[in-house]
Amino acid sequence: MTKVLVTGAHGLVGSLFVEMFPEYKFLTPDLPDFDLTNQDSVYKTVLDFNPDWIVNFAAFTDVNAAESGDHTPESPAWKVNVEGVENLANAFLSDHIIHISTDMVFSGTVDKPGPYAEYDKTPDSPDKLTWYGYTKNQAEKVIQKHGGSILRIIYPVRAKFDGKADYIRGALKRYASGKMYPLFSDQQISIAYIDEVSRTLDAIIKQDAKGIYHASSDTTTPYDLIEYTLSQLGVEPKLEKASIAEFLKTQPNPYRYPQYGGLKTINTEKELGIQFSTWQTVVEKLIGQGLSLE
Ligand SMILES: NC(=O)c1ccc[n+]([C@@H]2O[C@H](COP(=O)([O-])OP(=O)(O)OC[C@H]3O[C@@H](n4cnc5c(N)ncnc54)[C@H](OP(=O)(O)O)[C@@H]3O)[C@@H](O)[C@H]2O)c1
Repeated sequence: MTKVLVTGAHGLVGSLFVEMFPEYKFLTPDLPDFDLTNQDSVYKTVLDFNPDWIVNFAAFTDVNAAESGDHTPESPAWKVNVEGVENLANAFLSDHIIHISTDMVFSGTVDKPGPYAEYDKTPDSPDKLTWYGYTKNQAEKVIQKHGGSILRIIYPVRAKFDGKADYIRGALKRYASGKMYPLFSDQQISIAYIDEVSRTLDAIIKQDAKGIYHASSDTTTPYDLIEYTLSQLGVEPKLEKASIAEFLKTQPNPYRYPQYGGLKTINTEKELGIQFSTWQTVVEKLIGQGLSLE
């Protein structure tokens, strides 16, 4: 059995990977015993388990908290997302490490718009990134230096998960409670179907592939995505439109919300021999798996 150490295995994305592939022998350590920022706990876990592969989902994922906090190497986001990844890479002599990253390593601005390809160069400075995005950007450099692989994802969605709402389930919850706000109809986004994220990881491991990969649908807008989801659920959507271009003019940090995000998957599909669903098909599959307004 291939031994896989999975960090962040109890989170939104990692928990489905572990559930979907029982053929691997997983170790799924978590806080407080296993803490990426604690070098000793990382070294001990890696040495004791001696994995064939590591998949690193663990991260400081609260974008707002990272943004409103300290933007220095003393910040929790830097400690977990950069120093934690260094600890993991240093403890593991093999390059069989897959690091989960984000589209937010890119700016999503009008001058450098997405959707981004796997080979697109990421910015070198934090100027047009969120602090979370910059820490993930720097973590990618650590992994590349180590010789490991990167799988970037964007707005990961699944049919059910009690621990945390995702982009679609969060919107449905707001809609059901009458608290839906106007949705951007001029923001470019894509979504990652977590089932397909998990299959991509399995393909990287089974094919012993190496490089930067993307798991994502094609692009849409928040308005179109939620309108389509509601109509597929048999609800006549009552939604209002908003403009991100206008909204950003009122924001102290216009880079907090990428206007032209999205990830391309052409290289990943070609190299790994897999195909990602369109965003409409993702919605239909989620509904088939039990996504509902409740
Ligand atoms: N969710 C998104 O919208 C999104 C979009 C693009 C990329 N990503 C990336 O996808 C990955 C998974 O995201 P997710 O949404 O599944 O995250 P999540 O639900 O917030 O889960 C993160 C996991 O990391 C663990 N963790 C946090 N700090 C840690 C530390 N110091 N040491 C060890 N474990 C720690 C958490 O443990 P506790 O539960 O005990 O705190 C949790 O299990 C992350 O790398 C994230 O950057 C996410």
